[in-house]
Order: sequence, then structure tokens, then C-alpha cells
Amino acid sequence: MADVDKEAVLERLGSIRGPDDDRDIVRRGMVSDIVIANGRVMFSITVPAERAEAFEPMRRAAETAVSTLPGVSGAMVVLTAEKKGGSPAARAAPPPQSRPPAPAAPHRHAPPAQAQKADVPGVGAIIAVASGKGGVGKSTTAVNLALAMKANGLRVGILDADIYGPSLPRLLHLSGRPEAIGGRTLKPMEAYGVKVMSMGFLVEEDTPMIWRGPMVVSALTQMLREVAWGELDVLVVDMPPGTGDAQLTMAQQVPLAGAVIVSTPQDLALIDARKGLAMFRRVDVPVLGIVENMSYFVAPDTGKRYDIFGHGGARREAEKLGVPFLGEVPLVMAIRETSDAGTPIVVSDPASPSAAAYREIAARTWEGVVGGAGRRPPPSIVIE
Ligand SMILES: Nc1ncnc2c1ncn2[C@@H]1O[C@H](COP(=O)(O)OP(=O)(O)OP(=O)(O)O)[C@@H](O)[C@H]1O
Ligand SMILES: [Mg+2]
Repeated sequence: MADVDKEAVLERLGSIRGPDDDRDIVRRGMVSDIVIANGRVMFSITVPAERAEAFEPMRRAAETAVSTLPGVSGAMVVLTAEKKGGSPAARAAPPPQSRPPAPAAPHRHAPPAQAQKADVPGVGAIIAVASGKGGVGKSTTAVNLALAMKANGLRVGILDADIYGPSLPRLLHLSGRPEAIGGRTLKPMEAYGVKVMSMGFLVEEDTPMIWRGPMVVSALTQMLREVAWGELDVLVVDMPPGTGDAQLTMAQQVPLAGAVIVSTPQDLALIDARKGLAMFRRVDVPVLGIVENMSYFVAPDTGKRYDIFGHGGARREAEKLGVPFLGEVPLVMAIRETSDAGTPIVVSDPASPSAAAYREIAARTWEGVVGGAGRRPPPSIVIE
């Protein structure tokens, strides 16, 4: 099949419109340079930062439209934001429509949380992988980070704290139910030598989950404490998106050794990353560092690198905020494909540069845990 060309992609995109505009996104100049490699098409669409959620359906429409063009084997479209100093107050994104309202947290300000958090027996360090906004690659990072820590010689577990939208069963190609062992205790599932627990194992995939606030917490507590994790050096927790009360409650409930913040390079996500940092600091959890995900794109055929997404933003932000920069993960179709296939790239292609990037991030994260990096938060972050 002949490779598709840019003109064909642009022509197809001509039919895509934003949420409230009748001119197409191409004529409005919203579409970035288009990268085509081996039938795979990638580009970004620039949208106003404060309206990213509203543009999500358009992003999906663009991705679908392009992926059905003849000669296209896959398409990846991401939203990026104009860099401007607008008022971030207007950006407080509402929770995604599909999720039930966040439960009310008992405390809004730093509670004496540490004192009441009992350790989980046998589990060394619990680290959260979080982000300020959804869809930046938390689950992908959490899974590959956990497997990279395992590859680095640690005993690892991974817990899916995204009770509304669990991803781990798919990402690790696991199904079925965990076995009960005596009374209330569940045996964790296992994939690639890592122990796994997810709400996805306990409920049917299509079940609408109308969790009330208190149930979210008890479900999480159960997955943490009524699971026979055994002896682990580290338990990686894939957090749900956002920094609302639900997340704050979770951060309070789990005796966290530290948090890893995932961010895409765009301004858009960075503002949200800052919210993620602020949330963990509020509950006195050290931030182990920031990972820049979808940092840059490398064309698989030519090896040419494209910084179409504003590479380097997270590193600069980390420096500014005084937290460690843990590393960058490129935007690679193989990362998405292996995720969808339940064979994360760290195990399915350990020799790839992406897998190496994850192992390095894992090593730096672990150094932070062991060395207590970031234990004393620098003064305070201001979210203007
Ligand atoms: N480095 C990467 N290269 C290519 N694709 C990626 C990369 N990181 C993540 N993705 C893809 O981006 C999408 C979102 O990733 P993921 O589900 O990990 O995000 P998330 O932050 O956990 O989302 P949510 O907020 O819904 O929990 C997925 O399709 C995933 O395969
Ligand atoms: Mg996720």
C-alpha cells in the first residue's frame, strides 16, 4: 500500500471543526507539522489551554478521520496549548464527564495525615504516579516504571487506584478474579513478575460505577491492606487523574513514600503538573520528581527527531520548582501499541531506547526513595 501524503491528511482534516467554530482546524492554523512514518501519522492541534476538555471530542474525531485514510496504519493526535500568561484560574478543568463527582474530602488543608497512616506490612516504599490532568500517560508510565524497577532488581507490586477508570487489566493483559485466601484477604494477580491489584478485577468492565465518596476510600483501603502483597521493595500506585478532593483523600489514605508527577511538555499540562505537586506537598508527601512524557517524536524509519510538542518544558519547570527531573519518554507509537496489547515496552522490547529511558527513570526514582530526595519541600509553590 502506498504511503499517505501530508496533503491527503490535511484534506481529510478539512472536515474537522472545533467545538464552536465553523471554520476548519486547518484553515485556522491549529494543526502542527505533520509527521508521517511507515504509514503512521502524527501531529498536534493547538488549542486554548483553558478549553482543552472541550476540544477532546475534536481530537478524537481528527484521529479517527486520519486513521481511516487509505495507506494509514495508525494515527496519533495530541492537543497542545498556546503559551500565554493567561489566568490559570480559568483553567481549573472540570472533571471528565464520564466520572462521577469527586467525594468530599474530610479536610481541605494539611491534616495530621502522616500520624494516622499505618504501614502496609511487608511493603517497603509506596510511590504514587500522578498528574494534574488526565490522559498524559500516568498509567503507561506507572506500568513501565514498575516493570523497569523489577528489571532493575527490585520486588515490585502495582496498584490501580483509578477506581473509576482502571487501566491495569488492559495494560498488563490480565483478566479474571483474584483468588480469596482465607477470610477477606485476596491474592494479587501477577504479570511479568510483578504483583498487580486493580478494581478492574473486581467489577465487570461495563458496570457503571457510581461510587459514593466513602466507598472510593474503602475500596482503596481494601486493595491496599486486604491483599496479600507479600514482601515488596516497592508498590507503585497508578493514581486517578486530577487533583481534586478524591485524589487528596487517596494521597492521605495511603502511606506514601513519595510521588512521581507525569507531565507532557506543553504549557497546558505543566500548569496542571504544578497543581499535582501542590497537592502532594499539602499532605506532606515528598515529590520524587517529574517525568516528561510524550517529550519528542522520533520517526521510526529515518530516526529523525521532531520536537513538535514543545520538548523540554517539564525539565525547565522541574528546575524552577526545585524538584528532581526524572527523565523524558519519547512519543513512540510502539509505546501505545504495546500498551494496548498488554505487553508493555519494557518487557516486550527491553533493548529499545524507550525501555532504557524507563529503566533510567526507575533508577532515579528509586535513588530518590532511598536517599529521601525531596523529603523537605522547598518553601512553597504559588499557583497564581
Ligand atoms: N510515550 C508515549 N508514546 C506514545 N503513546 C503514549 C505514550 N504515553 C502514553 N501514551 C498513550 O496515550 C494514551 C493515554 O495514556 P494513559 O492511559 O497512560 O494516560 P493516563 O494519564 O493514565 O490517562 P487517565 O487520565 O485517563 O488515567 C494511551 O493511549 C497511551 O497508550
Ligand atoms: Mg490512567
